[in-house]
Amino acid sequence: MLDLVTPVRGRVAFYDLSRKQESFAEALVRGLSSMPKHVPSHFLYDAQGSALFDRICVLPEYYPTRTEMQILADHADDIARQIGPEATLIELGSGSSVKVRLLLDAMQRPSAYIPIDVSGEHLLAAADALADDYPKLAVAAICADYGDTFPLPETPGSGRQVAFFPGSTIGNLEPTDAEPFLAGWARSGVDMIVGVDLVKGREVLEPAYDDAQGVTAAFSLNLLARANRELDADFDLSAFAHRSRWDMDESRITIGIESLKEQTVSAAGKSFHFDAGERIETEHSYKYSVDGFQRLARRAGYRPEAVWTDADGLFSVHYLKAGPT
Ligand code: TRP
Repeated sequence: MLDLVTPVRGRVAFYDLSRKQESFAEALVRGLSSMPKHVPSHFLYDAQGSALFDRICVLPEYYPTRTEMQILADHADDIARQIGPEATLIELGSGSSVKVRLLLDAMQRPSAYIPIDVSGEHLLAAADALADDYPKLAVAAICADYGDTFPLPETPGSGRQVAFFPGSTIGNLEPTDAEPFLAGWARSGVDMIVGVDLVKGREVLEPAYDDAQGVTAAFSLNLLARANRELDADFDLSAFAHRSRWDMDESRITIGIESLKEQTVSAAGKSFHFDAGERIETEHSYKYSVDGFQRLARRAGYRPEAVWTDADGLFSVHYLKAGPT
């Protein structure tokens, strides 16, 4: 057990449990040398990429962010009732800790907040600001990959431990990985509040991942621009295009970058050949039905206790209960 120092106002307990991450150079060389070519999507989020992603979140076509916020705001009291008094909220991939405030404001005497994020500096700044706004809350920030297993700090309060995993980030895991991921938290007796994007028509899904203003395309191609900036690469951005496709059979959006011609590019001191039409895959974004997600949660050992959706049925927020009734 980690030791939680009860923070005084504006002070946050901080634990660095991060492991050495694969560098962008290593990932790019490995990914462009494989078949099919792929690069993990977290490399999209450098400073430029993060700024572009913030713009994606407010695009008219990109409904997930605003819809989830609306669901959390509309049902905060119900969600808080499920959580119960004196609970500890653990946020997986906490970023700027914006959405969680909707829950904290509705909860009865929340005891502790444990934000977990890989980006240490951003994590600490967000946790510090939150601790200022919630002086009675114990805040313990953990710098780690939320997919890793690590001990949780001991927290004050007699309530439940509840993990908050918004943004349909669960959809960026392969379903075969999502199940053991949930099962790990279920075994620890931690309840879960999970935001899950719902299956819907191609005419809504595809524009959400390829907007009219081209912000998503710029975000996607920033991967190559970043390689040019950091790894002495010579990607011609006009010879590549952002691609996203709704694959109904797999129930996922497949996101990637397509080479518009046969070409050879150098990056990190190596050269890589692209056929015309060849793709670099960056992300899968799985979409679930309410039933489909509840089945997955049950297989992981959770009891789906409640689910909230918006009036248009675009997005869902699930309360999953751990342990015996
Ligand atoms: N987690 C987000 C999602 O699946 C990420 C995302 C949105 C994204 N738009 C994108 C990733 C475009 C790559 C390219 O909804």
